[in-house]
Amino acid sequence: MNCRIGSTWLLTAAIIFGSAPILAQETANKNLTDNCSECHGTDGIGVEPDMPHLNGQPEALLVAMIEAFRQGKRAPKVRIHREIPSGSVELLAKHYAQQKAVRPKSVTNPDLVARGEALYLKRCADCHLDNGRESDKEAPLTAGQSLDYLIAQTLAFKSKERPFPYLMDDAYRGLLDEELTAIAHFFSAQDQLAPQKGRRRKR
Ligand code: HEC
Ligand code: HEC
Repeated sequence: MNCRIGSTWLLTAAIIFGSAPILAQETANKNLTDNCSECHGTDGIGVEPDMPHLNGQPEALLVAMIEAFRQGKRAPKVRIHREIPSGSVELLAKHYAQQKAVRPKSVTNPDLVARGEALYLKRCADCHLDNGRESDKEAPLTAGQSLDYLIAQTLAFKSKERPFPYLMDDAYRGLLDEELTAIAHFFSAQDQLAPQKGRRRKR
């Protein structure tokens, strides 16, 4: 009997004391992302197809993207991006960079994915490395990004609605809208994380 009371108490104590830091952390995260979660979730998963997933995007790149909005270099559709207080930029970037939620897959067209892959390898792979899972020259990670968002952004560079980063205009030269759309399908169809390497089944 004693023993049972003891273990119940221990269990309760474990729940109360063990989860307190987790609850405190969740509340802090919630307050931090209060103005973002309506569209990007607290875990960085875009809630609508035209809202980008932010989870797992490197912290420095998220800082750069938010600063581009704040400094008016990139015009956001949603005004709040311009009004993010400077004191929150790094905290928000760190928060979303650390999120490990699995990005839901958009429905992509296999023919366009194949066509997009060939174009990607020729034109985009220098900076958007490993099928968009890695980056060079501060290119954001595009693998597993929401399809509608990627199509809109891919075309926004071409129409000059979004300014080209250094050298990306060269990569775009002569590409048609439908070719750029195919590359967006290719990026979106990729798994956000690389398949695990070096794990072989024993024979
Ligand atoms: C009402 C919806 C909405 C809210 C609220 C919102 N966003 Fe966004 N966010 C978007 C959309 C839509 C885009 C796509 C870019 C555009 O069209 O402006 C975007 C783009 C971004 C990007 C660029 C992503 C990329 O891959 O280029 C970042 C970073 C970002 N938001 C961070 C935030 C943060 C941090 C907050 C909270 C302070 C926030 N957003 C609040 C809808 C929203
Ligand atoms: C020379 C390097 C380079 C090459 C080549 C390049 N990109 Fe980029 N890309 C970048 C950089 C840097 C950014 C970040 C731009 C910014 O936020 O202003 C970017 C951003 C993007 C984005 C926006 C992603 C987001 O989350 O907002 C898309 C989409 C994109 N590139 C598509 C392409 C496509 C398609 C090609 C090939 C036709 C390509 N890029 C080739 C460097 C490159």
